[in-house]
Amino acid sequence: MTTWNLQGTVSHLLICNGSSCRKHKGEEVADAIEDEIEKQGAERQIHTTVTRCNGRCSDACVVISYPEGVWYKEITPKSAKALVRKVLEGERLEDNVLYTYDGGLIAATEKDAKGKKKK
Ligand code: FES
Repeated sequence: MTTWNLQGTVSHLLICNGSSCRKHKGEEVADAIEDEIEKQGAERQIHTTVTRCNGRCSDACVVISYPEGVWYKEITPKSAKALVRKVLEGERLEDNVLYTYDGGLIAATEKDAKGKKKK
């Protein structure tokens, strides 16, 4: 068990490791993010959590960035490293944006808006 002092954290990355994302290198994506955070010396700025399925399996591997509320799709180990660098620059990894947040999630494209309706 660990209890981190998270004061000073500026970004929390939720890295999906549900079964679909794991089939799309979810574990390697998590490792790449951790490696890049360490390489950038950003352990205090970026906190990570590996999650179960986030409900967008067709977009695997999914990574969600808070507090900005941006969901990223099709993250690979390579783009995961770029994502860390973008987060530290206060920018988005635009090519992989799935949803943005503005009082509710907004799909980046028409394709991204597709999926089963929730009850
Ligand atoms: S397993 Fe990652 S979104 Fe479903």
